[in-house]
Amino acid sequence: MINDLIQISKEAGEIIREGFNKNVKIAYKSNEKDLVTEVDKLSEKHITDFIKAKYPSHGILAEESGNIKEGEEYLWVIDPLDGTVNFAHGLPVFSISIGLRKNKQTIAGIVYDIMQNIIYSAEKGKGAYADSKKIHVTENKNLGHALLVTGFPYSIASNPDNALGKFTSLTMAARGIRRLGSAAIDLCYVAKGVFDGFWEVFLNPWDMCAGKLIVEEAGGFVTDFEGNEMDIYSKKILATNGKIHQSMIEILKKN
Ligand code: IPD
Ligand code: CA
Ligand code: CA
Repeated sequence: MINDLIQISKEAGEIIREGFNKNVKIAYKSNEKDLVTEVDKLSEKHITDFIKAKYPSHGILAEESGNIKEGEEYLWVIDPLDGTVNFAHGLPVFSISIGLRKNKQTIAGIVYDIMQNIIYSAEKGKGAYADSKKIHVTENKNLGHALLVTGFPYSIASNPDNALGKFTSLTMAARGIRRLGSAAIDLCYVAKGVFDGFWEVFLNPWDMCAGKLIVEEAGGFVTDFEGNEMDIYSKKILATNGKIHQSMIEILKKN
């Protein structure tokens, strides 16, 4: 099924590339920060039509349509365009994220970095890849030498402390912090060894289902902010190379 994941995301990626910088129609979701474009919906329709036709008994959880169909054994978890704000403003950093779960365990995931034309993929127990190249997290043990990445929830204006206190403390502790605007790409960059760690609050299952498996298969750790196991429905994610995990937990716990 990994080949299906790759094929369908390349096709949907083409739809997104064609819509980029084309003045697409934008609507607001929860507030004026939280956007959806017609391209998000076209991409999602393309992916879900394929799954419904090829795997009619499988469940689908897709961002713009919600729980389209309750899963039997298999569940596809889809973000048809991760980085919509970037897309809408002409910043070429966005992706498609598709995870495949079997009996509530993620067994495969892909993130398609559309403008770089790179497919990040992982299957449980088989390692993580950027196209055909195996990828691995960094070896860095020192938070002071770490480059970190994060993102902010759309609800930040009503609940700033949740994200900003942690952001301030980690900015002081680490070498640098970046904010790319696509959580799925953030996770792949941890897996690839660009970033040493990533954290965020209030992500949704479709933002992290594929990326979590990709980080784990690249040798990284993914937990909540206390170091406990998290699943894709958790509201806090910490994904690191494993070696700076505890140092980040100490700071995340305090703020
Ligand atoms: C968003 C991006 C962003 C993250 C937000 C997400 P969307 O997803 O992943 O990096 O900070 O929390 O909601 O809305 O572009 O699919
Ligand atoms: Ca998303
Ligand atoms: Ca999205």
